[in-house]
Amino acid sequence: MRKFNAVVLGAGGVGKSALTIRFGKNVFIDQYNPTIEGMSPALSPRLLTDPLPEEYRCELIVDGHKCVLEILDTPGTEQFTALNEKYLKNARGFLLVFSLTQESSLRDIDSIRQQIYLAKGTEEDVPIVVVGTKLDLSNEREVPRATIHELAQSWKLPFYETSAKRNWHVTDVFEDLVRQMRKR
Ligand code: GTP
Ligand code: MG
Repeated sequence: MRKFNAVVLGAGGVGKSALTIRFGKNVFIDQYNPTIEGMSPALSPRLLTDPLPEEYRCELIVDGHKCVLEILDTPGTEQFTALNEKYLKNARGFLLVFSLTQESSLRDIDSIRQQIYLAKGTEEDVPIVVVGTKLDLSNEREVPRATIHELAQSWKLPFYETSAKRNWHVTDVFEDLVRQMRKR
């Protein structure tokens, strides 16, 4: 069985953990517990009530092929100027997450995308999926669909609009990434 690893990147609070946990455990986490890097469960009060690790290991079947996907959920930061290189170097695939309810989180994705290409030394052959979250909050939406279509074309990357709360298109995101990773 093939094994792939992917990292989830994006600004704080956009819904990276909610997306990952919806996929990995099929539950929705309603309260906001910022992901804290290197925080061991013994030291973190939040993790005592929320015993979910930051790395998830899932088995899934894509197009009839069974595989293992290891997903690293990272903490969002204010600035991505010094994005942790180890995330970029060690990962095979990338989920770039922004919130459809927060325009600025889309600009953060652009910066992260460029840092990934710099770290990998190429724009070819890098499996990436761009994920807009919180599709259910339609009244709070700030990023129009037209913007997404334009960016998808200029970045040449697949975009998905999802809701971890409603479980809309969450599986599609991970399956797309596995398909890209399998090709290489
Ligand atoms: P950091 O770990 O700080 O980087 O944040 P994060 O990107 O992991 O965000 P998290 O998944 O913790 O979600 C932040 C808040 O948004 C939580 O209150 C979630 O319940 C909420 N949220 C995430 N996804 C959705 C969604 O699809 N719909 C709605 N309505 N709320 C969501
Ligand atoms: Mg998180």
